[in-house]
Amino acid sequence: MDHHSSHFTQAFIHLDRLTHNMRLLQGLVGIRPLWPAIKANAYGHGAQIVGRHLVGLGYKTFCVAHVSEAIDLADAGLKATFIVLSATLPENSPYLVAYPCEPVVCTVEMVESLAGEAARTGKTISAHLKIDTGMGRVGIHPDAVADFLERCRNYPNVSIKGMMSHFPMADEADKSFSQQQIAQFHRTREVARSYGIRTFHFANSAAIFDLPDAHSDAVRPGISVYGLKPSHVMSNPQVDALQPVLEWKTRITFLKEVPAGTGLSYGHAFRTDRPSLIATIPLGYGDGMSRLLSNKLELLIGGVRCPQVGRICMDQCLVDVTALRGRVKLGDSVVIVGRQGREEITVDDLAQQLGTINYEIVTNIAGRVPRIPVGPSMAGASTESVGDDGTLKTLTER
Ligand SMILES: Cc1ncc(COP(=O)(O)O)c(C=O)c1O
Repeated sequence: MDHHSSHFTQAFIHLDRLTHNMRLLQGLVGIRPLWPAIKANAYGHGAQIVGRHLVGLGYKTFCVAHVSEAIDLADAGLKATFIVLSATLPENSPYLVAYPCEPVVCTVEMVESLAGEAARTGKTISAHLKIDTGMGRVGIHPDAVADFLERCRNYPNVSIKGMMSHFPMADEADKSFSQQQIAQFHRTREVARSYGIRTFHFANSAAIFDLPDAHSDAVRPGISVYGLKPSHVMSNPQVDALQPVLEWKTRITFLKEVPAGTGLSYGHAFRTDRPSLIATIPLGYGDGMSRLLSNKLELLIGGVRCPQVGRICMDQCLVDVTALRGRVKLGDSVVIVGRQGREEITVDDLAQQLGTINYEIVTNIAGRVPRIPVGPSMAGASTESVGDDGTLKTLTER
């Protein structure tokens, strides 16, 4: 055990499920390239682990949000091209040119700066023009494309290779706004083609499933790579075949009997109403578990749903395991997200309780939580099941 994995709150990354999700997505788009989004530490799953596995599957181009993410991954040895999705400033140009990045551009000033840096270092750089068809975040107006590309002709060291846009509402049941965006994208595509742009990409996960007209020449899946649904109102039933890649677990580090009327944790926001067996687990908001879930969270121990009680602290919180008296001991496994026996807690359950989206739950898992790859070729796979007798059986010990 290295000192990082001595932290008992750990995220297990199931590589076989990652492979399954990629195959599912690839099946939906045919031979078009998938450019998976591994930004924000691969939506909290561990960008190096995910990136390496995807490179092993043959994927060569990844979406990141910022050039710093591309640099970290390239320096870690990931052999890939990084599309840098967020808007950048000229001071980013030396990094964008030095590393295998294809930035998204939406100002001529940025193109000029990239061109200057590329010329200075004897290189050319590919970039993608972002058009705003309705997201309202970054990108030029579609009507400005011809003028923009005309001006880019002055900068031969920058090759505007692609044109892209993004959907704000592809995950909603009503696809009419998305359809309007697609129509506008297709009209603008003809203008861009006349300037030599050959690669058009638009689809996020929701559009990959529900808007085949948006598949264009390449797609940029994010949340679905990790086996999570873009929303609960997706039309394509194939979304149900996604397999969640993340399993989030911890261990019991302290157990105590307390009498009725005992106040627990900061502010005594919970008081026992009966003699209770209380477990302490090393899970807190410092691990990415929101304090807003205090007294609402449930965890699986011994295959049973147990209520978290008292305020969630930075590093620890408490679980009422009275129902498991005589069957629970120090070191027992606690599932935060995942299956144990017949019970399952999903990322979507946490998101719903917190009033947010699954994206935020996984992305918020803190850096100190070790990400542990689990897969056919990886040692230490952790798989648990609860037998019919209710006892927890660890199939492969870590
Ligand atoms: C420009 C762009 N493309 C693709 C994606 C992937 O989206 P999703 O995770 O919904 O598949 C994102 C995610 O935020 C994005 O910003």
